[in-house]
Amino acid sequence: MLCHLNYNIDKEFFRKAFYDNYDKGSWHKKGNIVFDKWWKVFKIESIVSSITKDLGIENLNILPRFSYQVANSTLNSHIDKDRIVGINLNLFDEQPEIIIDSKIYKYENALIDVGSKVHSVIAKNKPRLVLKYAIRNPWSEIYNILDKRGLIDHTKTYFDNPNYELYESKILDSDKQFIKWNQNIILFIQYQFKQHINVIWLVPIVILAKC
Ligand SMILES: [Fe+2]
Repeated sequence: MLCHLNYNIDKEFFRKAFYDNYDKGSWHKKGNIVFDKWWKVFKIESIVSSITKDLGIENLNILPRFSYQVANSTLNSHIDKDRIVGINLNLFDEQPEIIIDSKIYKYENALIDVGSKVHSVIAKNKPRLVLKYAIRNPWSEIYNILDKRGLIDHTKTYFDNPNYELYESKILDSDKQFIKWNQNIILFIQYQFKQHINVIWLVPIVILAKC
């Protein structure tokens, strides 16, 4: 599920903030693998505090970051761990695209159920830069906060998802294989095999991952 937001961000200011703090970031990692297509800058709470207050999410469990994806790269299908909900605010002129359940969404600023719905991101010939809030609170709680502030763009959201008001956040059993946590375990096990380490003790973890 993706809900478009009625919110404008000072892109120039926050783009500059990203470049000014670029050195504090790092490439995304999955276990021992460095994914050198996706640069993240954390610890930006004070920089984005005005936005946090505008959105009314200062009392939620939030983790904001600048998220930069290089041109011509793909984030394969996955579900973010911990059932997080994302608020993505575009900082480039070009609108980013996200594929959710095989449907392509273009957005400027959006609330996205990235911790429950399978999604992928393809940066085409231009890079992508978003200010992303990862929020560890239920979808409905966040939606209601934003809606009370008039920040849900109902018209635009209806156009993309006519049944959006009936939406319930949940992970389908068939989608559990896409949860990042499970994928990290698979990568870890593959690494252990490569290292010729006795993996018998990993069996319970595999069983757990399938739950
Ligand atoms: Fe994601």
